[in-house]
Amino acid sequence: MSQKIWDAVDRYFAGALLTPDAVLDEARAAAEKAGLPDIAVAPNQGKFLHLIARATGAARILEVGSLGGYSTIWLARALPPAGRLVSLEIDPAHAEVARSNVANAGFAERVEIRVGKALDLLPKLAAEKLPPFDFAFIDADKGSNAAYFDWAVKLGRSGTTIVVDNVVRGGAVADEASRGGDVMGVRRLAEAITSDGRVSATAVQTVGEKGYDGFLIAVVN
Ligand code: SAH
Ligand code: DHB
Ligand code: MG
Repeated sequence: MSQKIWDAVDRYFAGALLTPDAVLDEARAAAEKAGLPDIAVAPNQGKFLHLIARATGAARILEVGSLGGYSTIWLARALPPAGRLVSLEIDPAHAEVARSNVANAGFAERVEIRVGKALDLLPKLAAEKLPPFDFAFIDADKGSNAAYFDWAVKLGRSGTTIVVDNVVRGGAVADEASRGGDVMGVRRLAEAITSDGRVSATAVQTVGEKGYDGFLIAVVN
């Protein structure tokens, strides 16, 4: 079982369950043209995030790590008309592509891309005393996962759903010899959650066009 069959299965379900989508194709193409790395979530993963946000009735969404706005658009599509999404991005060039893609998708009014280090922007967001976020997607530099997760809990409410991308990394998370920054960031997050009575969490492994990886999902108690 490997990449070839994972790709084929992704193609099969994309054909069966995901409608052709010019706006999302344009967003991917614009990101590629601008030289952004090819690390956005896969289409079926984007729709997965969209469906969780919709199923939980999320009207206020927080994203950490916009890249070119691909996951942002999927999540924005879950919002009700008066919903809001705030996405944090450190790289101004990424943020510019994300803003343009989000506008092209019709969400300029509901989505705000803020530029800066997420660890600087999150305390500012907290100081604004906005209504709590209902859903958070954490997908930036993995070394700061635990800190982003802590902020997502603080900026949430009982029932807020938090999804963290890339927690498996080809299985590296469970390989003792793996000591890279990303993997250590995921382990720090998992260990912090172990003794965090504020949330209930699990993780699911995924395979597909993005390789072998996974999501952590948590709900605030
Ligand atoms: N969520 C996107 C992919 C995000 S890739 C999607 O699936 O479509 C990770 C992004 O996090 C990159 O654009 C990177 O520039 C950004 N990032 C990295 N470190 C960051 C930080 N400290 N604060 C905010 N964003 C950061
Ligand atoms: C990387 C980051 C991601 O968010 C992702 O989904 C895949 C890869 C990376 O930095 O390599
Ligand atoms: Mg990711």
